[in-house]
Amino acid sequence: MKRLSGVRPAWSLFLLWLTGCVTTDQTPSTLHPQGYVAAEMLTLTYILLALGGIGFAVFIAVLAYGLWGKPRGGNLHNWIIWGGIVFPAILLAITYFFTISTLRAIAGTADDPLIIEVVGNQYWWQVSYPEFGFETANEIHIPINRPIQLELKSADVYHAFWLPELGIKRDLVPGTTNTYQFSADVAKQYWGLCSEFCGIQHANMLLLVIGQEQADFDQWVANQQQDAPAPTTELTQRGYDIYIDAQCALCHTIRGTESAGNTAPDLTHLNSRLTLGAGVTRNSIGSLGGWVANPHGIKPGVLMPAAQLTGEELNALLAYLQTLR
Ligand code: CUA
Repeated sequence: MKRLSGVRPAWSLFLLWLTGCVTTDQTPSTLHPQGYVAAEMLTLTYILLALGGIGFAVFIAVLAYGLWGKPRGGNLHNWIIWGGIVFPAILLAITYFFTISTLRAIAGTADDPLIIEVVGNQYWWQVSYPEFGFETANEIHIPINRPIQLELKSADVYHAFWLPELGIKRDLVPGTTNTYQFSADVAKQYWGLCSEFCGIQHANMLLLVIGQEQADFDQWVANQQQDAPAPTTELTQRGYDIYIDAQCALCHTIRGTESAGNTAPDLTHLNSRLTLGAGVTRNSIGSLGGWVANPHGIKPGVLMPAAQLTGEELNALLAYLQTLR
């Protein structure tokens, strides 16, 4: 048989395999499960991969026999019945069994999960904890080893919530609430992302999930429940006045102030968060200044308008925003 020019199937397969495997500790990967949902799904992945491999190997063997084997006559019907019906039916039955048993194993049935509401927006995540009565954005803290129930919604278009290491991938559909239970085993930071194309900044719609020991989580909740402190210096008072005058308050909320907009992230504890702009940059006073003055330079297509401020005004505003811890 003539060789197909330029194609090296073995190498192609090997490289394809590598693309899924090259990860580091910083890369969220479904191959490093950190909770029971992800672990069950990975086991199922390996089972399906093995079954697919067996089916493929048998197919290639039969094909090779057909091409190069000695013709022996025999009954064609047997080939069709065993190779075309019985063998695939057995593979599909095994696939069905393992898929159903995995679905049963990950179906969340905990009676008393911690409920967290997540609303997808272009291009950020609104997060609220009904049990504790506060809201935050783009960062979810969870106690480890406790069932968590996500209630996923969308404020505009389809998004999808994907946390590879914890096994969650679920659409956020306008007009519908999708629920999902999971838990995390390890106290660490988990990166999540939007996995449904939702517009120009889809790729910069990241999410940080922070798994914590119960005591650390309780401390975080207690802090988040506090209102923002009133400005205590002339500079921060000036910053607060600029915040109100520059109309930031029309979209954002700072609890404990007259700022109660609800179309942009809650800023009450802005400085307790690790990133800005849904993971587009680390949260520091420098990047916050850049973000306020020119958000489109950092994240083109973001809905936040640039604030038209003088240097002195920006400085005062940043001083005030730094107090939101
Ligand atoms: Cu939200 Cu893609």
